[in-house]
Amino acid sequence: MANKSNPGDNRTRSSVSIFIVVGLCCFFYILGAWQKSGFGKGDSIALEITKQTDCSVSPNLSFDTKHGGEAGAAIDESDSNPKVFDPCDADYTDYTPCQDQKRAMTFPRENMNYRERHCPPQEEKLHCLIPAPKGYVTPFPWPKSRDYVPFANAPYKSLTVEKAVQNWIQYEGNVFRFPGGGTQFPQGADKYIDQLASVIPIKNGTVRTALDTGCGVASWGAYLLKRNVIAMSFAPRDSHEAQVQFALERGVPAVIGVLGTIKVPYPSRAFDMAHCSRCLIPWGANDGMYMMEVDRVLRPGGYWVLSGPPINWKVNYKAWQRPMEELQEEQRKIEEVAKQLCWEKQSEKGEIAIWRKRVNADSCPGRGDSYSTCEARNPDDAWYKKMETCVTPYPEVNSPDEVAGGELKPFPERLNAVPPRISSGSVPGISVESYLEDNKLWKKHVKAYKKVNPILDTGRYRNILDMNAGLGSFAAAIESSKLWVMNVMPTIAEKDTLGVIFQRGLIGIYHDWCEAFSTYPRTYDLIHANGVFSLYKNKRHSFRDGPYFATRRSSHIPR
Ligand SMILES: *[C@@H]1O[C@H](CO)[C@@H](O)[C@H](O)[C@H]1NC(C)=O
Ligand SMILES: *[C@@H]1O[C@H](CO)[C@@H](O)[C@H](O)[C@H]1NC(C)=O
Repeated sequence: MANKSNPGDNRTRSSVSIFIVVGLCCFFYILGAWQKSGFGKGDSIALEITKQTDCSVSPNLSFDTKHGGEAGAAIDESDSNPKVFDPCDADYTDYTPCQDQKRAMTFPRENMNYRERHCPPQEEKLHCLIPAPKGYVTPFPWPKSRDYVPFANAPYKSLTVEKAVQNWIQYEGNVFRFPGGGTQFPQGADKYIDQLASVIPIKNGTVRTALDTGCGVASWGAYLLKRNVIAMSFAPRDSHEAQVQFALERGVPAVIGVLGTIKVPYPSRAFDMAHCSRCLIPWGANDGMYMMEVDRVLRPGGYWVLSGPPINWKVNYKAWQRPMEELQEEQRKIEEVAKQLCWEKQSEKGEIAIWRKRVNADSCPGRGDSYSTCEARNPDDAWYKKMETCVTPYPEVNSPDEVAGGELKPFPERLNAVPPRISSGSVPGISVESYLEDNKLWKKHVKAYKKVNPILDTGRYRNILDMNAGLGSFAAAIESSKLWVMNVMPTIAEKDTLGVIFQRGLIGIYHDWCEAFSTYPRTYDLIHANGVFSLYKNKRHSFRDGPYFATRRSSHIPR
């Protein structure tokens, strides 16, 4: 990432060009893989590109020939022939290595620990290609995909039965239909969002990034998109099969995740809004630990929405078939923690309660008095870090009205404005100039990408992954209502700039590419890899061990 941000440096300049070559090669590889899928007109372009693209420079870039020592021992360097992988057993079509049901069951159920990431040890990693399910077809283009998913792509009917009355999902012959309902919004997500928008400034671009905890099939996130709000939705891989898989098949950003014992993989002050609608997270439990984690990732001035139990228990306790006292106590505890966190209750109407995190510490001198302050020196450091019952301090301010950590411009201005994390100099080594330079550079690259692939922004590529997102400039340059980008910040990246990415109104996640990503196979239409191999080249990891690449819409996987 240093390479992306210090383009003035001579030595890095040459490596920048190498990285771009690698990036382009990956890009074309995916195009090439996809051209076999037979999706219509664009395929001839892809075919042509694949023919024209000479990726033979790649042997020079192969890290096998460069790295030595310990890391080398793990890899058979004499093997210069490309390795051919066999397909995995058909049972593995939806295999998620780090969220595998069998392995999960060997971990404690307490605090959902068993639903958290538990990756296979080296000797249990599979070395085969995940096959597509029988009859797999190209998903519908957005926005039709929001409402329809081909049955063959995720053939799980259990939700249609379990959630039948709640209007989540219906099975109609060879497709699933998503009417946009949810447990808490049987009338549809749009009406529900209207209710939220009467309290939360969703319309004018103030709220752009959202976190949906326990998202179901992510209808909330799906319907926020047309209001220019992008939600990172997560739900565990649980007994309701394929919730997150449905979300991704629909073309809605989502990952497998859970609030358990470790921190969620996002930096502090990332989201403008967090949301739980009947998400079954015990907010009051563990002394409010989960609310404190939401507080960590919520930006100063951000909103927290809780709908469903226990809100409005007086009216609903019978319908929910739960004891009145229990619900009352649950809400009491939540209110108490919210008060401790100094969140301001904005509204409670029907079953929807909304709080707002204050803009700085000065506006709430008593915040967290009865809890400890988190000692972690870096509140962004979340990867496999234990969640704690403590309050994350605000960045300091100089005046009572100042927004801690800096005020953000409304979206879309925010996308290219200088993020406060950079203007304040809080990311060492990245200046305003290098940010602007990086932004300009990626505008140029994306323009070039679009020249070689004119259908890049036509809806053909919906789910896009940037494996090494840097400052998020690729995502900013390619930004469009037809696609979304999951910006990944490798945990070994020299500079952690995921906080910057969120300040630009983009979403992303921390990840270590030596392990499987928290998603299903066939999630992404396009994977962008810039400098990833270089980043990992001297690490104890071989991409050959990489469990799988989560591309979708391609039938290059042998069956
Ligand atoms: C790539 O390797 C070949 C020989 O293996 C060499 O002639 C060429 O200069 C190398 N290219 C670069 C860019 O290093
Ligand atoms: C957006 O609306 C909110 C609430 O009405 C208001 O406080 C805020 O100043 C507005 N922001 C902009 C940029 O107009």
